Amino acid sequence: PRLDTELTATQLIARVPMFHNLSAAVQAEIAHLLHPRLVIPDEVIVRAGERGDAMYFIASGAVTVKLPGRSVELGSGDFFGELALLRGQPRNADVVALGFCKLLVLSARDLQPLLARDRQLRERIESVAAERLGTALSR
Ligand code: CMP
Repeated sequence: PRLDTELTATQLIARVPMFHNLSAAVQAEIAHLLHPRLVIPDEVIVRAGERGDAMYFIASGAVTVKLPGRSVELGSGDFFGELALLRGQPRNADVVALGFCKLLVLSARDLQPLLARDRQLRERIESVAAERLGTALSR
């Protein structure tokens, strides 16, 4: 059997509920675009102010988004790093691993084809992004 650290994108996708009701064909296509990455405790995955070249889905573990004055914890099934890609703006927060995390990395150039491929996925990502921007602006 494969070691846990060697799980394939296909196996990791099964851990992200957002991908569950996609057809097998779309899942296979997505598995091709998502690259597994293991991060270690306290690793800074995304740095505020930097240019964004990828977004991340959390297959296992948790991260903290360090917003000014507060932190938001995200866990298995959540995603982050979408704002810089969708808005063409620098990262708006540091995102730091709270422990060992398995992530699925989607590079910026693969995001648009993916969103075009599946409307539900696009709506889900866009609505979470809008909500995050709303809370960022109201504080
Ligand atoms: P991005 O700006 O690319 O990099 C930092 C990420 O932190 C951002 O994308 C979002 O994914 C995430 N983030 C920013 N603001 C919030 C928030 N209010 N709640 C949860 N996550 C957030």
